Amino acid sequence: MQNLTDKELIEIINTDKYDEELFNKADAIRRERYGTDVYIRGLIEFTNYCKNNCYYCGIRAGNKNAIRYRLTKEEILSCSAEGYALGFRTFVLQGGEDPYFTDDKICDIVSSIREKYPDCAITLSIGEKSRDSYKAYFDAGANRYLLRHETATCEHYNMLHPSSMSLDVRKRCLYDLREIGYQVGSGFMVGSPYQTTENLVSDLRFLQDLSPDMIGIGPYITHKETPFADKPSGTLELTLRMIALLRIMFPYALLPATTALGSIHPEGREKGLKAGANVVMPNLSPVRVRKLYDLYENKICTGDEAAECRVCLEKRVQNAGYKIVTHRGDVLR
Ligand code: 5AD
Ligand code: FES
Repeated sequence: MQNLTDKELIEIINTDKYDEELFNKADAIRRERYGTDVYIRGLIEFTNYCKNNCYYCGIRAGNKNAIRYRLTKEEILSCSAEGYALGFRTFVLQGGEDPYFTDDKICDIVSSIREKYPDCAITLSIGEKSRDSYKAYFDAGANRYLLRHETATCEHYNMLHPSSMSLDVRKRCLYDLREIGYQVGSGFMVGSPYQTTENLVSDLRFLQDLSPDMIGIGPYITHKETPFADKPSGTLELTLRMIALLRIMFPYALLPATTALGSIHPEGREKGLKAGANVVMPNLSPVRVRKLYDLYENKICTGDEAAECRVCLEKRVQNAGYKIVTHRGDVLR
């Protein structure tokens, strides 16, 4: 099953049924490698300022109605402390591409967390940077980096992004990160505007070449304050099929059941786990900023304290038939 042809992939992607058989196959593969373990990552959304203008995203620079915020270093450290106490051993610092956070500031934050929590993984998700910047963060103590490629087809990439951005630069960043020694996460949105089945096949082929440790996918979800306000959201079913395909093609991979998946269906994340996902990434950001990290509409967990999410997730993961583990959760290649 690992060597599916394009034709076979297209057939699976285009099926219109709720593909229980495919999900079970993926689940069997995940259990072989990871048992029932679900890894958790504490997400700290530390700035929603962004200089980019991606057409799909609610915190794009062009959204003048977005209320912007930045967390201070102290706030980030206190989120980490709270997370550590709740059992998190991976912190994901995610933000828009915010020029306020210079390399020196990022390195300072990373090295402070590194010093306090030598047993934890530090993941950055702060967009496209120079190779030197990536190297500096790595030397300061960051181990992992998440940067979705969004779509591996040039023409499609250009329909989702303004001309100031390019797929070539995005790919260059991902290969730089890998060469520097990061554990790399990439991924794409499912059902993004203008996406074709062939685009999805190209995404899978690109990922085979990159061979990332983590692959994050979630449905595209409409946001009113973007140029794509009238474009429909991606579906639960197609997202689940793509998760299952990823598990089958990348048995080793860390596959999150994403917040976006939980946002289009009340049991989206549970269904994602049952279709092959093995990671969840609850939010550790202070509740006062939760609603403001507004990438898409109807985002879940925006009113819940970190501790509440932790308890809620424990139950959800258990109900789905799996178990949260609290170690770092490195990839099992
Ligand atoms: N719907 C779903 N996902 C989105 N992202 C950005 N905007 C949206 C949206 N409207 C995703 C992108 C990005 C990640 C941080 O969030 O894939 O890489
Ligand atoms: Fe956040 Fe359920 S996981 S409230």
